[in-house]
Amino acid sequence: MMNLALDAFEFGLHTHIYYGVNKLNELPSIIRKYGYNKVFICSDKGIVQSGGLQRLEALLSEAGVAFYSCTEVEPDPTIEMVQRAKNLYVEHRCDALIGMGGGSSIDTAKGVSVAAANPGDLSQYEGKDKIPNKGPDVITIPTTAGTGSEVTHATVLKDSKRHYKMGILSAHLHARAAVLDPQLLTTVPRGVAAVTGMDALSHAIESYTSNQAQPITEAFGLYAIRLIGRHLRPFAARRADLTAACHMMLASTMAGAAFIWGRIAAVHAISHPLGGRLGVAHGLANSLLLPVVMRYNVGTNYEKFRDIAVALGENVEGLSLRAAAERSITAVELLIRDLEIPTTLSALDLKPSDEELNVIAQEAMDSGMTSANPKDCTVKDLRAMLEQIR
Ligand SMILES: [Fe+2]
Repeated sequence: MMNLALDAFEFGLHTHIYYGVNKLNELPSIIRKYGYNKVFICSDKGIVQSGGLQRLEALLSEAGVAFYSCTEVEPDPTIEMVQRAKNLYVEHRCDALIGMGGGSSIDTAKGVSVAAANPGDLSQYEGKDKIPNKGPDVITIPTTAGTGSEVTHATVLKDSKRHYKMGILSAHLHARAAVLDPQLLTTVPRGVAAVTGMDALSHAIESYTSNQAQPITEAFGLYAIRLIGRHLRPFAARRADLTAACHMMLASTMAGAAFIWGRIAAVHAISHPLGGRLGVAHGLANSLLLPVVMRYNVGTNYEKFRDIAVALGENVEGLSLRAAAERSITAVELLIRDLEIPTTLSALDLKPSDEELNVIAQEAMDSGMTSANPKDCTVKDLRAMLEQIR
């Protein structure tokens, strides 16, 4: 059931989207349109191995667009790495950024943009709207589906001294443009396709059920859930299935657009410290937590959870509203099983102590992200969720 349109809300999508198979070929003309002189490309070794970066460089060279490629991006980019990339950005006199890759490359490009225009250590900009100056433009080219970072106002960087993943949220972090070329998804490894798809599903479900949801984010979120329900299995099974890749690309971006305003909640609150403390990859951490958090939240809005069940392809005819709502949790569990994603920390050979889980629960609480959760959470509640995935 939609929120009453009587409720006030804000919505804006600030990133110009260029979507299509082989859309990457239009990048030189897009760069020319914005008038950049030299672009700084943030990318990683996986993109080099897949040949994606070489394709990008050949396109730019042929068109006479000046560029510098930085391929040093690591998974879970650190503040220190972003600072090093920023020094290269300045040294090579670039005036715009391209983030090509998964969330790590895109978040690094956003981080360099912040560092190029704002003094001091990036950790002081943690939180919402703390960045004084808008940095150079960023063009995002996602190669996973995905984090949604291609359109969101967020970058997540690791403070390795504190073993802490911090979120920087600001209107200055919206990419100027996103080039969505589903062809780029076809070289993603199967395991990455599965867990990044679960990240997108977490964005869609968390924003759809959050207490900040509003009609436009609900529309984006529910549509993304439907696309993921239909296309994540075939996409993970065979990434060369271009139809599935197209729909997953769209789902990822729409789920990202949904959570700019609809927000994300308890799943992401816990998954960030789980990544920071135990090194669990973001999509995998969300996959562990999503069914647990859904079970915690389901009673807050049976209609919405029934909508999710239907969007995921469940037949709820003849069921009570409550039973239909609970089908959404089963549907997510079945999806995780079919994708062969582990469901516990011990299955990942992780044996955190009670004290470590207490710290993670506390950091999840301190992140402030649970304020968008449809049901209030205490540290004790978050700790109990962690116990369920132990
Ligand atoms: Fe996420």
